[in-house]
Amino acid sequence: MRNRRAAFAATATAVTLALALTACGQNSEGGSEEDKGGPEGATIGIAMPTKSSERWIADGDNVVKELESKGYKTKLVFGEDDPDQQVSQIENMITQGVDALIVAAIDNKSLNNVMQQAKDADIPVVSYDRLILGTENVDYYASFDNEKVGQLQGTYIVEQLGLKDGSKKGPFNIELFAGSNDDNNTRYFFNGAMSVLQPFIDKKQLVVKSGQAELNQVTTLRWDGGTAQKRMDDILTSAYRSDRVDAVLSPYDGISIGILSALKSDGYGSKDKPLPVVTGQDAEVASVKSIISGQQSMTVFKDLRELAKVASNMVDALLNDKKPETNDTKSYDNGAKVVPAYLLEPVAVDKDNYKKALVDSGYIKESDLN
Ligand code: GAL
Repeated sequence: MRNRRAAFAATATAVTLALALTACGQNSEGGSEEDKGGPEGATIGIAMPTKSSERWIADGDNVVKELESKGYKTKLVFGEDDPDQQVSQIENMITQGVDALIVAAIDNKSLNNVMQQAKDADIPVVSYDRLILGTENVDYYASFDNEKVGQLQGTYIVEQLGLKDGSKKGPFNIELFAGSNDDNNTRYFFNGAMSVLQPFIDKKQLVVKSGQAELNQVTTLRWDGGTAQKRMDDILTSAYRSDRVDAVLSPYDGISIGILSALKSDGYGSKDKPLPVVTGQDAEVASVKSIISGQQSMTVFKDLRELAKVASNMVDALLNDKKPETNDTKSYDNGAKVVPAYLLEPVAVDKDNYKKALVDSGYIKESDLN
């Protein structure tokens, strides 16, 4: 038996099941109690990082929906991008006696103490989207193939510039942006993109005119669009007086919007001075609209409905003393252990396939894009 809670849960489920079977296996809703899955009365604490981006609001809603459909109760909190606030929110949920935690970290290293408290209270933890670092007390990781996200962004740039098929040789000017340095995903996105871009930089077919090409020079604290806009402004002023920027690697839609604002203020977006290729991630409505209107070039779509299912199934398995399904037990070493993970596939989306990928799949309503 994994822990006291799991033992309780399994016993509760067995008792419920036995009762249900004597009552001809049907509950009042017409399904068997076993189908509902969730141990009677179990509550799952969900800690999301911020409401400042629509994706995390959707994540919170989706996870609650999935867990409730399995018969769980939920407590959902958002940390306003403040690591201390997130720590105390999780502490509170532990004190309130939640049975499991799903956590999308703000600062991946600030959670070590609180993860120890969860362990001491026998509360299993699923790291959601962003891996918690430096602690053994994280049981599973639900995310996307984060390196592939970066590869999709890098590949889109070399394809759009005609470098990939060799139809153009360049040199083209490129600027690089990365996510928050306290988010473990940041280096996976950046390294994935650079695995595609670096060979062209080495051959001087791509030129980083600002000279800022190392990860620690290009991060954007808390993924803030305004911070990215300011950095793009500075780069345009200092490095592009007489030259044009042809591509910008952006790891996330909120950052892309900031970059595009800086570019437009500098006169980009006209016939004589077209916008560069600008990547993104998350398929947020504002960015999909920007793609449709020919500004942002692409985004990386990660189906958050699927991520919520994966994380909820993991918790459900843990509380029922089963082994959660994983498909990667090598890639995510958090410094204390390799965390078993289930990684979903990201999809590159631009104006050619947004309808199929986002609208036909029901992810975004067509009316939201008008
Ligand atoms: C990352 C996440 C991205 C993006 C970013 C900013 O951790 O994987 O999809 O949402 O945070 O919120």
